[in-house]
Amino acid sequence: MFPYLSLSFLPLLAAIATAHRPHIDDGTHTSMSNAWIWPDTIYARDYMMNFECPSLAIFTKVFINDTSPHTFNLGVPNITSIYDFRPTLWIVGKTLSIPEEYHKEQASKHNSASTEVPRFTPYIPQGFTTLEYPSEGSSLWHGGGESSVGISFYTYLSVNVTVEEPGDVWAIIQPTENRRARVFITLGHNEQRGDEDGESNQLDMEAWHSPTSWPRIGSKCEPWGI
Ligand SMILES: *[C@@H]1O[C@H](CO)[C@@H](O)[C@H](O)[C@H]1NC(C)=O
Ligand SMILES: *[C@@H]1O[C@H](CO)[C@@H](O)[C@H](O)[C@H]1NC(C)=O
Ligand SMILES: *[C@@H]1O[C@H](CO)[C@@H](O)[C@H](O)[C@H]1NC(C)=O
Repeated sequence: MFPYLSLSFLPLLAAIATAHRPHIDDGTHTSMSNAWIWPDTIYARDYMMNFECPSLAIFTKVFINDTSPHTFNLGVPNITSIYDFRPTLWIVGKTLSIPEEYHKEQASKHNSASTEVPRFTPYIPQGFTTLEYPSEGSSLWHGGGESSVGISFYTYLSVNVTVEEPGDVWAIIQPTENRRARVFITLGHNEQRGDEDGESNQLDMEAWHSPTSWPRIGSKCEPWGI
């Protein structure tokens, strides 16, 4: 992928491997019309979300400009009490292309999921293509981190999104339990840091990755009245 890099560049590459531009959700992006907007698909960004009581779906939106695949990764900070927190990622848009393997994958995931788990869906108006990617039952569990600042995490879902024509795409994170938890989603490949608008500071980012907080992370809310 980087044929022009000499070996001496490799340590540098490793050091910036997690240089995603960090953004922390402020709790207001709970519908399609007020989704958090990814500034572009180019720079690597990490969007960190908190689920409180009640746990609401969080909406993000990005304008995809080209027909190459764009990868969303979903995961949790390294906090044992939420290792098992598995929301569903919904990809929504009018110009989405539906991957050939999509229906097959969904069928096998739904079969393996427990039938006792109620199915939660975010509110999406008619006329959109919606692709559902449950992280429940995913076999991916890929650790990463930035040891210099004591941050580590696990990625448990990776989804490639392609559009047939340029258009808006929503990535919606729908919790399937009513529980205090944290999840991140990443997009973009260029690891260049930028001090851009809305970027969170180092302290907030470290706090988000830390298990120390009250109420306790991972604790259940009152059951949802349905
Ligand atoms: C489309 O993407 C290119 C880079 O890939 C960028 O230069 C251009 O500004 C983008 N156009 C729009 C409308 O976002
Ligand atoms: C997660 O935290 C545990 C306990 O501190 C540690 O042993 C483990 O290496 C961490 N995981 C990663 C991916 O760094
Ligand atoms: C996504 O696409 C990349 C190539 O662009 C590929 O390496 C990767 O395996 C794909 N990931 C998934 C989950 O299909």
